[in-house]
Amino acid sequence: MSIDLAVIGGSGLYQFEGLENAERHAVETPFGPASGDVVTGDFRGKRLAFLARHGESHTVPPHRVNYRANLWALHSLGARRIVAVNAVGGIRDDMGPRALVVPDQIIDYTHGRYTSFNDVEGAEVRHIDFSEPYTESLRQAILAAARAEGLPIIDGGCHGITQGPRLETRAEIARMKRDGCDLVGMTGMPEAVLARELDLEFACLALVANYAAGAGDEAEISIEEIFAHLAAATANVPPILGRLLAG
Ligand code: HPA
Repeated sequence: MSIDLAVIGGSGLYQFEGLENAERHAVETPFGPASGDVVTGDFRGKRLAFLARHGESHTVPPHRVNYRANLWALHSLGARRIVAVNAVGGIRDDMGPRALVVPDQIIDYTHGRYTSFNDVEGAEVRHIDFSEPYTESLRQAILAAARAEGLPIIDGGCHGITQGPRLETRAEIARMKRDGCDLVGMTGMPEAVLARELDLEFACLALVANYAAGAGDEAEISIEEIFAHLAAATANVPPILGRLLAG
């Protein structure tokens, strides 16, 4: 099967609206089950594959996502280009709630996750280049598509990835800011590096749900507000990806 684009949906994006002739695929992988079925279908005349990272009912927390199975499943269905949609907290001032950002760098603060397909007994050790963690041409395609839709979008930023599922302390965010992080999420890694191991084109469309702890004026972060902002930001995803597919 040939797939023009695969989309990994994050918090707030559990189904891809507007897919026609949808088919579900329960893909078996050497790494166990993916977060759920991959749904393929037609979108704006092209073939799209969609997978909900946390499951369609949001039951898989960030540290338990089977990232290897998810990437393997998409790859085995023929996907070669992946847009990962990630809910994030904004650290930089101009990355407030509902902002759209296409990050260009990563700092990984996660632990205890399987970070390589070669992390199995007897497999050859590979040290892949990861200087630029995202595929630049795909990053540019997302930016151009959003701009063609008249949507403001921020080019670049460092995506810090924490273990979750809890949100961070103010001190942790202050440290991440000193480290150079502009955004914080819980699922950007090891997804990006596993995509690189499979030679997939991969970029992230980050949807800012809230200012990260201590980065805005709020004393506390409200989960209701996170989901309200995410719902608003998520509405922009199909038009952006539709335009990307048309381009
Ligand atoms: N921190 C980490 N991940 C997130 C946040 C946050 O503040 N908001 C949405 N995802």
